[in-house]
Amino acid sequence: MADPFENVDAASAQMIEIIATGLETRAEDPSMLPVIDAYLEMLGVRDGGLIVDIGSGTGGVTRRIADRFPAASVVGLEPSDALTTKAKDLAGDRPNLSFDVGDGAALDLEMGCADVAILHTVLSHVKTPETLIAEAVRILRRGGTLVICDADFSKATMGVVPGDPLGSCADAFVSGAVTDAWLTGKLKPLINETGLSVEHFSVMNRVVTSGMGAMTWVRMSGARLVAEGIIGQPLADALEAEYIRRADAGLLFSFLPFVTLIAKKP
Ligand SMILES: C[S@@+](CC[C@H](N)C(=O)[O-])C[C@H]1O[C@@H](n2cnc3c(N)ncnc32)[C@H](O)[C@@H]1O
Repeated sequence: MADPFENVDAASAQMIEIIATGLETRAEDPSMLPVIDAYLEMLGVRDGGLIVDIGSGTGGVTRRIADRFPAASVVGLEPSDALTTKAKDLAGDRPNLSFDVGDGAALDLEMGCADVAILHTVLSHVKTPETLIAEAVRILRRGGTLVICDADFSKATMGVVPGDPLGSCADAFVSGAVTDAWLTGKLKPLINETGLSVEHFSVMNRVVTSGMGAMTWVRMSGARLVAEGIIGQPLADALEAEYIRRADAGLLFSFLPFVTLIAKKP
């Protein structure tokens, strides 16, 4: 089955809404912010520099980047019209932030124009990550920085015992909404191919034990399985209710490692 993130605009209106809500929830989730802030802290960006967030979705991460570097210009490029419209609506009046529709495989930007290019949980959702990496490298100036932050979905879990129904939601999310669950282990060889030098490679675990930060796995899996006629709506509703019950009772456990790679263009 196709990963809906490969072509968000082709998904149902219900699925686009689940995706948009999920991206916004994740971008603000206390379990996600340390992962984002850890790489932003490692970036030195000159005043007037250009930061390009490729595959910016609804712009939650892009807004955080813009707030962190007020003297830089931050551009979010995203192939989905629907998500770009939401990103523009949510951008507020930040003077250094803009969004546009754009495909990471063919960016409408000049060679060498960017100080920083960021791919935040994008490459695990595309069939040819090397194409997007090559394009990011093309737009970077000499000495520019590439940041790739992505999830190791091969290790994702929400189960607390074998056969846990919420564990099945995580499994269904990975099999139905991730293109390459093993992408992060391939990142170093992919970057070595480009001639960039890897300066940083680290893993941080995102563990959700409260709140709605991992509900997207349940909602997206439920909506897909209902649409495919595999389960009925009552079971999808029951899985959401079970998520809320565990969150309210302090019993929720969702685990996902995030890899961050930072590389310099010579
Ligand atoms: C999981 S979302 C991450 C969105 C955003 N970076 C964030 O973290 O909130 C994956 C994003 O990759 C985008 N995407 C898919 N194919 C792409 C491509 N060829 N170029 C750029 N972005 C792409 C999707 O539209 C989606 O917005």
